Amino acid sequence: MKQIRPIAFIAALFLSLLCQAQEMIRISTSDHEMVMAAFNDGPVHFVYWGEKVQGDAFPFQPGKNQPDTQDDITPRIYPSYGGRHYLTPALRLTHSDGVLTTDLVYAGHTVNVLDENRKETVISLKDRIYPVTVSVRYLAYQKENVVAQSVTLSHSEPSPVVVESVASSFIPFHADSYWLTHFNGTWAYEMQLEEERLTHGQKVIESKKGVRATQSENPSFILSLDGPLAEDSGEVYAGALAWSGNYRLVFELDETGHLGVTSGINPFASELILEPGKCLETPQMILSYSPSGAGQLSRNMHDWARRYGMTHGDMLHPVLLNSWEGAYFTFDEKTITDMIDKAASAGVEMFVLDDGWFGNRHPRNGDNAGLGDWQVNRKKLPHGIDHLADHAVSKGMKFGIWIEPEMVNPDSDLAHKHPEWIVRSGEREVLTMRNQWLLDLTNPEVQDFIVKTFDEVLGQSDNISYVKWDANRHVDNVGSTYLPADRQSHFWYEYVRGLYDVYERIRAKHPDIMIQLCSSGGGRLDYGALKYHDEFWASDNTNALDRIYIQHSTNLLFPAIATGSHVSTSPNHQTGMLIPLKFRFDVAMGGRLGLELQPSSLVGEEYDFACKAITVYKDFVRPLVQLGDLYRLESPYSGTGWSSHMHVAKDKSEAVMFAYCMKYNGRTTYFSTRLKGLEPESVYKVEEINEGSVPAFPAGTMTCTGDYLMKVGLQLRINKPFSSCILKFSKIQCSDSQ
Ligand code: GLA
Repeated sequence: MKQIRPIAFIAALFLSLLCQAQEMIRISTSDHEMVMAAFNDGPVHFVYWGEKVQGDAFPFQPGKNQPDTQDDITPRIYPSYGGRHYLTPALRLTHSDGVLTTDLVYAGHTVNVLDENRKETVISLKDRIYPVTVSVRYLAYQKENVVAQSVTLSHSEPSPVVVESVASSFIPFHADSYWLTHFNGTWAYEMQLEEERLTHGQKVIESKKGVRATQSENPSFILSLDGPLAEDSGEVYAGALAWSGNYRLVFELDETGHLGVTSGINPFASELILEPGKCLETPQMILSYSPSGAGQLSRNMHDWARRYGMTHGDMLHPVLLNSWEGAYFTFDEKTITDMIDKAASAGVEMFVLDDGWFGNRHPRNGDNAGLGDWQVNRKKLPHGIDHLADHAVSKGMKFGIWIEPEMVNPDSDLAHKHPEWIVRSGEREVLTMRNQWLLDLTNPEVQDFIVKTFDEVLGQSDNISYVKWDANRHVDNVGSTYLPADRQSHFWYEYVRGLYDVYERIRAKHPDIMIQLCSSGGGRLDYGALKYHDEFWASDNTNALDRIYIQHSTNLLFPAIATGSHVSTSPNHQTGMLIPLKFRFDVAMGGRLGLELQPSSLVGEEYDFACKAITVYKDFVRPLVQLGDLYRLESPYSGTGWSSHMHVAKDKSEAVMFAYCMKYNGRTTYFSTRLKGLEPESVYKVEEINEGSVPAFPAGTMTCTGDYLMKVGLQLRINKPFSSCILKFSKIQCSDSQ
C-alpha cells in the first residue's frame, strides 16, 4: 500500500495538471476577440467575446457547478446533445448503433493566415467514443471586425449517422438583460423592426418555407446587452445566417441567467443521413460586435458585405428604370423603346425589362402562363431581345432582363415536358402559388436546365448587362421524385446546395453580369444568396413612406449599395398613397436609385425635377451612399415623426444627409439634429441639394466646423408630412472659409 499510494498521488496530480493544461484560443479581429478555453481531452469553453483584451495573459476562470442544471455553466463552443446539456444543442446525432448522445472533446486546432485581412482558426472536436469529428471554423476579417463561423461534420462509423440538427454557431452571453432586435414582415412589408426584452425560455426565429424564406422573418438579429438597442452606445452583437432556405435561430435564456444563441439551418423535417467518410458543411453565420451601439455594428457589416458578402461591392451601381410598375405584362416593342428613350433623356443609365417578355405557345401575358418557356414572345417583341438591348445601348444605356428560372407555370411547355422536375409530395395534389410550381433543384438535371436557361437568355444579345432573378413562391407539399424514398428529408438542404451550385456555375461563366436578387421583393434577403448578387430588391412596396422603415431596418445589416430603391408613381400602386415626387426621390436616393414607373408620365416640372434629381444622385450622392459610411441620426421607429441618416466619405471629405418628415408635427416647425461621423476640426460647407419649391434649410449655405455640426447640429424646416431635405457637406480648405 505504502508503495502504491505515491504512484496514485502522482497519477492524480498528473491528471489534474492535464486538466489545467488548457489552451486559450484567441480569435481576434482589429478591435475585438472571441476567446475559447480548450482542455486536453476535455471540453472547449466559450469564455469571451468583446473588445480586444490587452496582453498575452488570459486566465481561465472555471464556472461554478449548479446542482441539477447544466453540468458546467461555462458554456461550450458547440454543445452536443448528451451529458447534462439540457438546452437546445448545436448538434444532435443518432449514431449508427442507435445511440442518441454525443460528447465532444478538444482534438486540436489550427490557425492559418489566409491573407493580410483574413485569419482562419479551426477548432477540432471529436466524440469521446465514436469516430465523429466536428471542425468549428472561425474566419476572422480583421479590418471589418467580422467573424464568419461554420462547422464541418464527418465520421467513420460503420454505417450512416443520422444528423438530427447541426447548427452553424452557438454563442453564449451573460448579462443582466438581453434585448433582441429582429425583423418581421410579409409581402410588400418586409423587414419591420421589432425589439423585445428576452425572458426565460426560448424565442425562436425560423422559416419552414424553403423559398422566399426571408419574407416573414430574416435569419439575422442584433442583440443588445443590459438595455435596449442604442445607436452609439452599449454592447451589441449581430448575426446573419448565410443560408437561403429554412433556418432557425434559437435564443434560450436559462435558469442560470445565460443566454445561448443557436443559429443554423432549420432541423425541422430535415434529418440528414451522413454516410461514413462524407462531410457535411453548415452555412456560415456572419457575426459582428460593437462596444458602441448599432451604428458601428452596421458599418462593420456594410464594409464586410461590400468586400466579401456581395458581388461588385466596390463598384458604383447604375441608376436604372425597371419596367414592372410602368408596364406590367402589357407592352410591345414600341412601349419598351419609348420607355428607354424617355429614361435615357432623363439620365437613367440602365433599362431592365421585367416579367412578360417570353412564352409563345403559352404567352406570358399574366402570371398564369409561360414560366419555364424562356424564349422571347415573338408577337410582343418580333425583333427579339437583341433589338431592345441594342436600342438601349444606342441611347447610351445598359440593358437588363428578368427571369424566374426555378419556377414553372402548369400552363407551359416545360411543365408538360418534365413533370418529374416539379416538387411534389408523392401522389398528393401539387399546389400552385401565384399560379406556379417549383422546380426540384435537388435534381442535377434541373440545375443544368437553369444554368442553360441563364446562358440562353444572355445569349439573346451581347448587350445584356444585368439580370433580375426572381423567385415568387414558397415550398409546400414538399417532396422530390429525384431523391430516394429514405432521403426525402434531405430536400431542404439539397435544394439550397443545388441553388448555390447553380449560382457558382453561373458566376464562374458570367463574372461581370450584374444580378439582382429578388423574391417577391425581399423574400431571399440573406448573405448566402447575396454573395452571388450585386443587389437585392428590398420590397415590392415602392411607397416612399413604407420604404423609409424597410430601408432603415434592412440597412442595419445589409448595405445601401445593394438596396434597390425605386421611385414609383403617385398614387402608389401598393398603398394608394399620394406622395410628392421630391419625397419619393429623396427616399429612393438613400439606396441604389432607380425608377419603377412609366417615364412618359413624367412631364413638365416633374420631368425637370426627375432629371435634376438623377444628376444630383450621380454627381454627388451616389458614391457616398454606395461606398461611404452610414450614420443614423433619427430612427423612423423613434415615434418623433422624423427620420434622418447620413453617409460620410471614408476620408471624411464629403457627406450627404437625408431627413424626412413622416407626420404632421404640430407647432414643432423644425427638425433639429446633430450630425455624426465628421472630422471635428475640419471646416465644412453645408448646402441643400435636390431642393423642392420651398427651401428646407433656412440657414441657406453655411460654413462651420465638424465639431459645430456634431455638437450644435442643424435645423431643418420639414414639419409637414412628406417634406424632406438632402444636405451636402464638403470639407473646405481653411483659406476658402476665411
Ligand atoms: C415579383 C417581383 C416584382 C416583379 C414581379 C413580376 O413580384 O418582386 O418586382 O418582378 O414579380 O412578376
